[in-house]
Amino acid sequence: MAEQLQNAQMPDETPLLQLKNVSVNYGKFRALTDVSYRIYPGQVVALLGGNASGKSTSMKTISGTTTVTAGEVFWKDELITHEPTPRRMARGIGVVPEGRRMFSSLTVLENLQLGAWAGSKGRATREDIAEMLDLFPPLKKLVHRPSGVLSGGEQQMVAFARALIRHPELVIMDEPSMGLAPALVKRVFEIIEEIKNRKIAVFIVEQNARAALRVADYAYVLAAGQVVLEGKPDMVATAPMMTEAYLGKRS
Ligand SMILES: Nc1ncnc2c1ncn2[C@@H]1O[C@H](COP(=O)(O)OP(=O)(O)OP(=O)(O)O)[C@@H](O)[C@H]1O
Ligand SMILES: [Mg+2]
Repeated sequence: MAEQLQNAQMPDETPLLQLKNVSVNYGKFRALTDVSYRIYPGQVVALLGGNASGKSTSMKTISGTTTVTAGEVFWKDELITHEPTPRRMARGIGVVPEGRRMFSSLTVLENLQLGAWAGSKGRATREDIAEMLDLFPPLKKLVHRPSGVLSGGEQQMVAFARALIRHPELVIMDEPSMGLAPALVKRVFEIIEEIKNRKIAVFIVEQNARAALRVADYAYVLAAGQVVLEGKPDMVATAPMMTEAYLGKRS
């Protein structure tokens, strides 16, 4: 049982997304054991944990790119455990995948159009594209460039724009700051604040635990595929197991 520092996350509301007692096996290996998460509308929720603790696997149970062995996934109380990814995107889940995977031979514009297509509501409208370019101005001069030649920071902006273009209610992000220079890491967290200001919920996996806890409303901590701690960020940040295991010295 996880050490729960705060029982009531937001008890009166229906969660936007809920995992109930989810386990995931890869063959005989159990990557997640009996994991439960709740993400409420407009909340930023951080998922922390060491290497191989099951963070990416958790994100994949939400995007629908891995098979759940046991337990259930709900979107606004509707069961979506075995729904295909495009259907989930159409419901309002945007995905910023690990390593900002995109089609590197396609231009930025084509990647954005495809992001919209993945939402299976047709291609992005001119307005959708314009809105994303306003949100990420550096992309304006890059729209016709192949995504593969962009810098890491530019690619991350494309990945964010692609996740946001169909106006999702929840965006899941797997280590969005990975491999970026400090100034760009700062920018990533500013973008997360902007997304939060638009009342879009965010579920974020981050190695950069302190920065994630600063922006989050709630946090879960995984170890060896189990939730070992959850609660408000200030409580998680000061929990003895966190200060030793994940946060290191105060920076
Ligand atoms: N497709 C797969 N087949 C077999 N094992 C897998 C597969 N994907 C992940 N695993 C294993 O499941 C465990 C959890 O992996 P996961 O990628 O979820 O961890 P993580 O917390 O995201 O780690 P990291 O911080 O390194 O990104 C690891 O031991 C990993 O080797
Ligand atoms: Mg991972």
